[in-house]
Amino acid sequence: MISPDVLAVSGIKKTFSGIVALDDVSLTVETGERVGLIGPNGAGKTTLFNCLLGILRPDAGQVELNGVDVTGHRVHKRAQAGMGRTFQRIELFSDTTVREHLLIAERVRNNSGAFWKDLLGRGRPNAAEISACDAVLEMLGLGEVAEVPIESLSLGQGRLVEVGRALMTDPQILLLDEPSSGLDRSETNALAATLGAIQSERGFAILLVEHDVELVAEFTTRLYVLDFGQLIAHGPTTETLASPAVRNAYLGAGAAVAGAADDAADPPKADTKRGLGVAGAADGAADPPRTDTGRELGAGDPPGAEPGTGGEL
Ligand SMILES: Nc1ncnc2c1ncn2[C@@H]1O[C@H](COP(=O)(O)OP(=O)(O)OP(=O)(O)O)[C@@H](O)[C@H]1O
Ligand SMILES: [Mg+2]
Repeated sequence: MISPDVLAVSGIKKTFSGIVALDDVSLTVETGERVGLIGPNGAGKTTLFNCLLGILRPDAGQVELNGVDVTGHRVHKRAQAGMGRTFQRIELFSDTTVREHLLIAERVRNNSGAFWKDLLGRGRPNAAEISACDAVLEMLGLGEVAEVPIESLSLGQGRLVEVGRALMTDPQILLLDEPSSGLDRSETNALAATLGAIQSERGFAILLVEHDVELVAEFTTRLYVLDFGQLIAHGPTTETLASPAVRNAYLGAGAAVAGAADDAADPPKADTKRGLGVAGAADGAADPPRTDTGRELGAGDPPGAEPGTGGEL
């Protein structure tokens, strides 16, 4: 059956030792659409991504990619079918170069899930691999640092390499988990501009998980809101951010959500982590460090949530 949606998710449920992390979550993303997914710490955003990507097996529910049911498919098969992702925590090998990172990603696309490091050892890159690398490097403005080891890059450049790695798989939908994490306002704006330009050019869809309200407000047209594993709101981004359900979910942080658009030039980053936005928005300093005051300090990013440690498929 042909579906107009690049991604159609229905009835996803996931429990961890009796704790319900996701409860009957359904969402859709249309071809080329930019959709946001927000929620306080521990709401289930990364868990949902991991269920969509095949890293975790949901207890119930269905994931369709371009109308094909991929619920039982493994990670690399979904990647080959057009699902790309970046990680919440940056996952780069520090001693390899930018070009090598992209090359590894290209080889992953054509292999069946061999270890990334091993793929580098498989001979010199061929002309097709080099030209695919060069195209992505140019798009991301990383041409000049192609031969630079990842450890010498700024965090902002590292995030771009992460995006580049995902782009090498030629995704039809890109799942971005907190791409602005650790970046200041101007780095975040630069990342958004680059991402937006590439997305317009290539036409893939984006599902964006973010705590940075301003980025969500500017970058997405539609928004889903998770709280304690349940979708509590969805709709056009601006209206959804202003809805009572969303403001209630964030308690005091609702003020930051509402005030995000009114901030002066180079404002601090308004943030959807529970309780954070108010303090961050009120102190007025340019680009203050982001403090994690979410409701589950340290629990929102548990061991096992990322590939390689939590895989169930
Ligand atoms: N592998 C796991 N084992 C046990 N519990 C987990 C696991 N992964 C997630 N959880 C729990 O599931 C819930 C959702 O966590 P998740 O990481 O998906 O939240 P999140 O919305 O991504 O939060 P954050 O904004 O902090 O990244 C939390 O209660 C978390 O502790
Ligand atoms: Mg997360």
